[in-house]
Amino acid sequence: MNITEIRPGIRYVGVNDRTTTRFEGLWPLPAGVSYNAYLVIGDRIALIDTVEESFGGELVDNIREQIGDRPIDYLVVNHMEPDHSSSMTALRRLYPDMRIVGNAKTLQMIEGYYGLREGTVAVADGETLDLGGGKTLQFHLAPMVHWPETMVTWCPEERTLFSGDAFGTFGALDGGITDTQLDPDRYWDEMRRYYACIVGKYGAPVQKALAKVGRLPVETLCATHGPVWQREIARVIDLYDRLSRYEGEPGAVIAYGSMYGNTARMAERIARSLAEEGIRTIKVYDLSYAEPSEVLRDVFRYDTLVVGSPTYNGGLFPPVAHLLEMIAERCVPQRRFAWFGSYTWAGAAVRCFAAFAERMKWTAACEAAEMKQGFADEDCDRCCALARNLAAAMKR
Ligand code: FEO
Repeated sequence: MNITEIRPGIRYVGVNDRTTTRFEGLWPLPAGVSYNAYLVIGDRIALIDTVEESFGGELVDNIREQIGDRPIDYLVVNHMEPDHSSSMTALRRLYPDMRIVGNAKTLQMIEGYYGLREGTVAVADGETLDLGGGKTLQFHLAPMVHWPETMVTWCPEERTLFSGDAFGTFGALDGGITDTQLDPDRYWDEMRRYYACIVGKYGAPVQKALAKVGRLPVETLCATHGPVWQREIARVIDLYDRLSRYEGEPGAVIAYGSMYGNTARMAERIARSLAEEGIRTIKVYDLSYAEPSEVLRDVFRYDTLVVGSPTYNGGLFPPVAHLLEMIAERCVPQRRFAWFGSYTWAGAAVRCFAAFAERMKWTAACEAAEMKQGFADEDCDRCCALARNLAAAMKR
């Protein structure tokens, strides 16, 4: 059984990357990542997207395994980011008559990145390309999911959508390709982390893309990263829908920095008191040690955020400031928000959190807890009061 044939005439030719340590030079890849590419085989053959260029040789082997010496007639570029396009120049050398299909923005970027101007086909929103042999491709623009040129490609005969980064996830493919051939449970957290880190800023464009996709009777969903979705399409779309509406599940993230352990004690006391108030989903992160992308993932996942920091150089402790900046960059519109802070001689952390809330137009869920110097009984009481008030707000 050849499991690379994901639908009649549609073959998976992507690759796994288990050696790149940081995606975009930023985000760790503990379970690797796949760069997905697909062949659509009619009388003429289209390749949908390519792979990162250091895997270009493997892509060519995969293509030849499927179609032998037949040429590729079209390369459809759904997304120009180099993890999907940088094998293009090598492929063009191998298939000199291959025409590159993209929208006007894509073709401009292809010229800018790779100097390729000839042999291109510009397509507009809704336009179709007939491959013959009962295979048609229809192009739908989906700007800012995740670059301005992004589009998705629909094959109506196979009810298959090639969706670019949308519905993608970190995590290489350990054998199986479609979600019926593997255990999808290992991908849900990585999908949230991928969304929060890579696509998280573009909630509104993702919603627009979802509205377009919602009109199509999709039975196979082919993203550029992660499994091909067939059985779990509804769950994947629901997850992307909730993430792109920034809708949090019930639960609290407590993220803090601490230099000498006093602010950490505030965090621990708040977490324990929240649990005593009956809140069961609580994730506590010491930001000096936690992986930022995992914290960001959970900020997207849960509806309540509690942050804490000592005063440092008249402001916030740097890892705490970094987390807030990542949240602000992604324009998260609201979280139930509370904060605590400490200082030795002049307090600034609590003031900085209040300024952040104002900048984000978030409202405070309860009064902040502020501590001077060491953790004393009255600080414990302040933390318990914060937790009680926050828990009451979470239950409302
Ligand atoms: Fe996987 Fe936006 O590139």
